[in-house]
Amino acid sequence: MRIDVLTLFPRMFDNFLEETIVGRAVREKIVDINVIDFREFSDNKHMKVDDTPFGGGAGMVLRVQPVYDALKSIEGNESALKIMMTPQGSVLKQDMLAEYKVRDHVIILCGHYEGFDERIRRYFDLEISIGDFVLTGGEIASMVLIDGLVRLLPDALNKEESHLNDSFQDGLLEHPHYTRPRAFDGMDVPEVLFSGHHQRIETWRFEESLKRTKERRKDLYKAYMKKHKAKK
Ligand code: ADE
Repeated sequence: MRIDVLTLFPRMFDNFLEETIVGRAVREKIVDINVIDFREFSDNKHMKVDDTPFGGGAGMVLRVQPVYDALKSIEGNESALKIMMTPQGSVLKQDMLAEYKVRDHVIILCGHYEGFDERIRRYFDLEISIGDFVLTGGEIASMVLIDGLVRLLPDALNKEESHLNDSFQDGLLEHPHYTRPRAFDGMDVPEVLFSGHHQRIETWRFEESLKRTKERRKDLYKAYMKKHKAKK
């Protein structure tokens, strides 16, 4: 997969693209990530990328021209999946990541200031939010999207990091995990995990998953029960 990120703050991505699983996926050429400073495409002599809003009002608006020219400079932009990060977008969910991971080329725009000139929207396929809150810009949100996407790419995770049992993979939250020591500060590890009985352990994990989902996320629990009742 190739990912191009359009941003005014390219240095924010430096550590992100070098560290941990994303960094390894980049080094192993599982994903090619290019960060593009779209200020360089401004036709303004002061390289301005924002301007005051028509009609008046506070704040600045991101101009369409630098974004348009930066986008068109990317080879293959026509067939890429083009995403805008904005709090006005669809809230990101695991199944959306599963849909995007099969794309060869993704372009992500990170906004700043009060908002985008509305005409920018014409050049993008999707608008994504990472939650119902407002950040100072789309950079951190785009890193959330990239991180969630890269870990789903073939060979990005090794066996130990396998995501097959992840929360949300089957619509349920993950069961509890334990490691040494067996007892800590009065808390014991559940007996069943020492039974050596694979089937019983799996059943316990599944029941804990269900219980946890029901307690914490009624919405996911209801959707899961509906789906599985339909199957029976
Ligand atoms: N930009 C600012 N806030 C955002 C959010 N919640 N999600 C995506 N992009 C954003």
